[in-house]
Amino acid sequence: MFPLDFRRGWDAAKGGGVAYDHLTPGIPAAEYEQRRRNLMDRLPTGSVAVLMGARMKYMSQNIFYKFRQESNFWYLTGLEEPDCAMILVKNSSQRGYNMTLFVTPRQQQRELWDGPTCGLDAAVKVFGADSAEPNDPNVLLHVLKTTLADAEHLYVDLPAQVTNPRQTQRSQRFSLHDFLAPPSPTGLDLFSRKTDFENLVRMLSDRRNTHSLQREINVLRSRKSKNELAVMRQAGAISGAAMTEVMRAVRPGMLESEAQAIFEFECARRGSARQAYVPVFASGRNALKIHYVRNDCVVGDKQVMSVDAGCELAGYASDITRTMPTAADGKFTPAQRDLYEVLLRVLKECTSLATAHQITSLSNLHRRSVDLLASELRALGFSLSLGTLERTLYPHYLSHWLGIDLHDTPTIDRSTILEEGMVLTIEPGLYIPDDAAFPKEYRGIGMRLEDDVAIGASEPYILSADAPKELVDVEAVCSGRLPRFP
Ligand code: GLY
Ligand code: MN
Ligand code: MN
Repeated sequence: MFPLDFRRGWDAAKGGGVAYDHLTPGIPAAEYEQRRRNLMDRLPTGSVAVLMGARMKYMSQNIFYKFRQESNFWYLTGLEEPDCAMILVKNSSQRGYNMTLFVTPRQQQRELWDGPTCGLDAAVKVFGADSAEPNDPNVLLHVLKTTLADAEHLYVDLPAQVTNPRQTQRSQRFSLHDFLAPPSPTGLDLFSRKTDFENLVRMLSDRRNTHSLQREINVLRSRKSKNELAVMRQAGAISGAAMTEVMRAVRPGMLESEAQAIFEFECARRGSARQAYVPVFASGRNALKIHYVRNDCVVGDKQVMSVDAGCELAGYASDITRTMPTAADGKFTPAQRDLYEVLLRVLKECTSLATAHQITSLSNLHRRSVDLLASELRALGFSLSLGTLERTLYPHYLSHWLGIDLHDTPTIDRSTILEEGMVLTIEPGLYIPDDAAFPKEYRGIGMRLEDDVAIGASEPYILSADAPKELVDVEAVCSGRLPRFP
């Protein structure tokens, strides 16, 4: 079993501060060092890796959102500050590489407003850089020029179109929106001379020796360490407890947003700093919309509410979906019960296959879920023509990788054989539209069940096990017959 003593990452004697050897809660500084070493060991001799941290994002003008670090930068540094950059140079030293961090220098005046920041000293002493530089574009340009002059291979994540640096990876087309409404510029972006900037873009995008850094880091991120699994188990436990409180509270007449607020409160009071994504609290027919996030309707009677929500804890996501009856007595109707039991059986069967010994993959698990759902629905009286299930009733994939990001490590192919330490979601769903093609009693019902599962050698480990899932348990909690969670 994976270690669950996650709380050793926090030091009660320091008023809940992080334990001495842990750089971030649950993850020792030595593990960050090992991650960088593992990355550089993967790259050929003469390699340089360039990473840009995240910038502040703005809701409007100077009203900022809560900061979240860029995921790969976070994975390699544990440094939660905007406007940073890092250059790693592979070399033959004992460490195996040289690390330069670019950070905002400490400024007394600024710290009056924002509190202490990392600064150049801590970038070296705490975050392990060999050298630290101010995040000034001219310094960055100078260091990059010198470093890249000797580099044989450059690993960096370029925008899809290097001629348009604002182009995102997602869009293959030029976007007027990107052009007219660029992301907020910060210190590292502001080159005073256009030619400097253009030279830099040219230097980074020389296709002969420029490679995707993300692909390399994702290979490392796809297998979680014992420490990471312990953090993710704790994230799942917190979300599971919060889900239980939502089940206890849901009743006809309440706003979906109230249920959302309960979930978020219960996560926050257990130490989560944010939600891992905008959650779905979908009652009644809203649950037919897979990405329903308005969460602003009044919950009706004798419906089901699908809740897809998960906290982020110390940098790691959880992602749980539970479907619960809204009736005041906490009971499902017979039709709701039928569909719930179908999903539960499919969830359990697919989960039991999620082990290293099965030599299987996400795509195999998905195919299995389609076959199982088809035969289960036929047994309930559905007549399914070719493609109806995957096109209409179950139009999404069973699984995605989970980790620092909700949809983690997207470059890891779905046909990859599952290995110990990988973490994925298993989330079968059914969305039955109001259509005469389907049995009347099931029309208008949408539901999904989702667990977070760590691959073990011969057993799966359900990181979200604390969220009630058995039908009798869900009904017992919803009817108020089970006591409050601590
Ligand atoms: N909550 C989004 C997902 O399950 O992937
Ligand atoms: Mn989800
Ligand atoms: Mn998911």
